[in-house]
Amino acid sequence: MTTKLIDGKNVAEKVYRELESDIRILKAANIQPGLAVVVVGENPASLTYVRNKAARCEALGLSSFKTELPVETKEEELLALIENLNNDPAVHGILVQSPLPPHICEDRIIRAIDPSKDVDGFHPVNVAKLALGDPTGFVPCTPLSCQRLLVEAGVQISGAHVAIIGRSMIVGKSLALLLMQKGREANATVTVLHSGSHDIAKISRQADVVVAAMGRARYIGVEHIGEGAVVIDVGINRVSDSSHPKGWRLVGDVDFDAVRDRCSAITPVPGGVGPMTIAMLMQNTVTAALRASGISMNP
Ligand code: GUN
Repeated sequence: MTTKLIDGKNVAEKVYRELESDIRILKAANIQPGLAVVVVGENPASLTYVRNKAARCEALGLSSFKTELPVETKEEELLALIENLNNDPAVHGILVQSPLPPHICEDRIIRAIDPSKDVDGFHPVNVAKLALGDPTGFVPCTPLSCQRLLVEAGVQISGAHVAIIGRSMIVGKSLALLLMQKGREANATVTVLHSGSHDIAKISRQADVVVAAMGRARYIGVEHIGEGAVVIDVGINRVSDSSHPKGWRLVGDVDFDAVRDRCSAITPVPGGVGPMTIAMLMQNTVTAALRASGISMNP
């Protein structure tokens, strides 16, 4: 079978080109969309993510407000920073990079963010809006990325059986809510598989689309994938590899080499879902600025 490689970098570039006209409209009204990104501690992956996000803001002409705080930052200090960002009219989107140090309650932090600036889509108000099918909220960036990649790959989501492996709030649960909604780019039959499921492979093999999002390196093998299925790999795992200069490389939750000939289309890692998540973050930030400005007649 000829397997199509779904190129996340290409799709992300398309999203950036699409955003240009909205950014121009906002600029004409003297509004520069602004994203505040906050990271606490020295987690190298988190520091790289937030710097990439800030760099992309600059490339698009968005303002970015990056705050890197020491690991010993108190929860009250972070809450005070969020309060300031909530009240700052130049800030349209706020993202607090996860994970936070263990002495800070992530739920409290998320709940402190103004839902209208919650471009991560993690605040309970936005989760509820997604569940209700209310388009005035924000949908988390990784589920949005998966949906957009399927659309761009020409996959008919409506009526398809989508098996999502992993039930995190950030990916699995939110993606299930998104794809089961009524709508042209949704309307799927969704199965969510997780650590409590009996015989995951038996069920995922029946699916037209398999989304791997459980955070276990190369866990999904050929036994999980039906002939001709589409595979979206959300996993980003470091595995040691002495042949690489850094001593490690990134792999997904899917054993790519084992399954690629069995599926009709698949996202690579890196270069699949990863580049798309920043694109969706930029899209949510521009949407937040349009809503705040009152320019947007759309939700
Ligand atoms: N850490 C890993 N992914 C994410 C994300 O999408 N948002 C935030 N805030 N932190 C993350």
